[in-house]
Amino acid sequence: MKNKGGINVSEEGIKGRKNGIKGNEERVKRSKNGIKGNEERVKGSKDGIKASRESVKVNGERRQIVEDKIKASRNLEEDPGFELLKRVITESTGFNCEQYKEAHFRRRINVRVRATNSENYEEYLRLLKKNSAEHENLIKTLTINVSEFFRNPETFGVIEKEVIPFLIKSRSDSLVKSIRIWSAGCATGEEAYSLAILLHRVLGRDFDKYRISILGTDIDNFSLEKARKGVYRENVLKNVDASIIKSYFVRQGETYQVSNQLRSMIRFQRQDMISESCTNHFDLIICRNVMIYFKKEIQEHLQLNFHNALNRGGFFVIGKAETLLGTASNRFKPYNARERLYIKET
Ligand SMILES: C[S@@+](CC[C@H](N)C(=O)[O-])C[C@H]1O[C@@H](n2cnc3c(N)ncnc32)[C@H](O)[C@@H]1O
Repeated sequence: MKNKGGINVSEEGIKGRKNGIKGNEERVKRSKNGIKGNEERVKGSKDGIKASRESVKVNGERRQIVEDKIKASRNLEEDPGFELLKRVITESTGFNCEQYKEAHFRRRINVRVRATNSENYEEYLRLLKKNSAEHENLIKTLTINVSEFFRNPETFGVIEKEVIPFLIKSRSDSLVKSIRIWSAGCATGEEAYSLAILLHRVLGRDFDKYRISILGTDIDNFSLEKARKGVYRENVLKNVDASIIKSYFVRQGETYQVSNQLRSMIRFQRQDMISESCTNHFDLIICRNVMIYFKKEIQEHLQLNFHNALNRGGFFVIGKAETLLGTASNRFKPYNARERLYIKET
């Protein structure tokens, strides 16, 4: 085949050249894409720079926030208003600040100082004096009244399978078969109700033959009010079997109320375990996740008080993160050290 200029070229050649042109076009396209790619890369890297500038900005802001926080807590630490605030809290709430671990107490108060955007303790104190709702918020923050049913289920497993059967058996020959239990620092009542459920289940048909009394005490009236009502949200029932829920709770929409029978087994009463005396002759005292907030000498003093309040052979249960201290550690015999269960021997 001839081309216009009379030059003989084979079809293959033309095809080849056409392909060559096409190839070139592709290359151009590719290189255009390359340029576009480069442009995108440039854009990308511009974005990258922007992003990294932003991240520097964000990190910077974060660092600033952290620095401000450190500065604020350092300022609070050096704030002379703290002592005055402690005195006012002690006088107005009956909550003796000196008995709690200083670092813990300061942390809890700082939660409210920050939440109310107070500059320092003095400003917070002014707010506290004129705002009764803040008074309530502070008490709630100081008391940390979180609890749940069968908290640490393994501990309750030992109580159900060993402690309660032992107490029942030890009363079987008595004329008056009474079992006395004290949940000290009971918060909103979950611990006391858990024990009531276990006693009722283990005793079964013999329940009426026994005189069961359970005392729940706490320093915080708001918590006690809730405990007496016995109305709970589902989240605190996560360790409770469906069969127990069915037998001992009445569903009320989103909440569950403990049965009247359980409520009649427990007396809730306000008591400051440090400054107020209590009754005694208990067969089981449970005081968990309360003493941990107190100074060591107060903990030891309380443990000796609980020892006095127990019957001989009675059981004492403390929190998993708590230990017996000083003289108190010699007065009790470990029954199940892992579950922090002790017996009063002498
Ligand atoms: C974290 S809760 C423990 C609740 C429950 N014992 C448990 O382990 O799930 C601590 C409770 O101890 C109470 N408490 C703090 N100081 C007290 C005191 N001096 N006397 C009695 N109760 C106190 C608080 O009000 C709070 O309700």
